[in-house]
Amino acid sequence: MEERELLERAKEALINAYAPYSGYRVGAALLTREGKVFCGVNVENASFGLTICAERAAVAAAIASGYRSFVALAVAAEGEKEPFPCGACRQVLKEFGEMKVIIAGKKGKTLSFKLEDLLPYPFVKGENQTI
Ligand code: THU
Repeated sequence: MEERELLERAKEALINAYAPYSGYRVGAALLTREGKVFCGVNVENASFGLTICAERAAVAAAIASGYRSFVALAVAAEGEKEPFPCGACRQVLKEFGEMKVIIAGKKGKTLSFKLEDLLPYPFVKGENQTI
């Protein structure tokens, strides 16, 4: 699947975001090794700290369906600024290994990163803990 197509899926998803507090709707589309796409949106809450980011919602959807190997994640959001995934989402993505992170840039431009470049010093299972 092409980067542009995955980004298109993220853009389609953001329409369903639940963001009544920030007004900032985010959509994410996660591509599995098998070629399946799982989407997520941000889900806000009156208790602000309980908000779920779009990227983590996409990961949860994929995991719930039995997929754990990811090739790329695309993120789209409303507004002018590029929607870089927050630090928490980068760490959650890293749990499942390396992947591309594709971001909708300004004026239709697409930015593409390796997750390892967005999160150079992750907390990794087996390396930082003894269990
Ligand atoms: N948000 C995401 O969905 N992903 C991110 O990586 C950063 C922030 C959402 C959370 C909240 O609903 C809104 O953007 C404003 O912070």
